[in-house]
Amino acid sequence: MKDRPEALISAEEISRRVAEMGREITQDFEGKQLTLVGVLKGAFVFMADLIRHISLPLHCDFLRVNSYDAHGQSSTIRLEFDLTQPIEGQHVLLIEDILDTGKTLHFILSHLRTKNPASLTVCCLLDKGLNPDLAKEVRYVGFKAPRTYLVGYGLDLAGEYRELPYVARVDLKKP
Ligand code: IMP
Ligand code: MG
Repeated sequence: MKDRPEALISAEEISRRVAEMGREITQDFEGKQLTLVGVLKGAFVFMADLIRHISLPLHCDFLRVNSYDAHGQSSTIRLEFDLTQPIEGQHVLLIEDILDTGKTLHFILSHLRTKNPASLTVCCLLDKGLNPDLAKEVRYVGFKAPRTYLVGYGLDLAGEYRELPYVARVDLKKP
């Protein structure tokens, strides 16, 4: 069995920050109903925790894009599956795990805008800060992240490590 990588952002830090983000979202959208759209698979752990800190009526839906191959290398972005319900006229909060080059987010935002939501707001757990222009589109960021490959709390490397309760750095060069 592989060693568990060391925590970069601890479970406690994540839990505190996620609760804070939930409170902020609750205040900002007071009196509104939200539709949360999670980007699978990476955002599912974050989204599951976050919704339990949002005190508003909300619906959840998911989409899946595939922009990374099994080795963590960037390739073409494809929509693997789409939302199950229309979002026209709804306040949509997009939940992403991590913002790297921003290409995935750009693709998803363009796609969702064609569905005419009343508003479209982005909430991301981690931001590597590589794309300041796109970062302006992201209202909620959990943590600034280093520009290295991260795993845990939903994030994977070739399907592994999603179950770690914390975020860790992995060395892609190691076998
Ligand atoms: P971008 O299109 O370069 O911004 O990449 C964003 C997507 O790639 C995210 O939604 C993640 O699924 C994945 N990704 C980017 N960086 C990492 C990382 O460090 N660990 C795990 N997944 C990542
Ligand atoms: Mg993702």
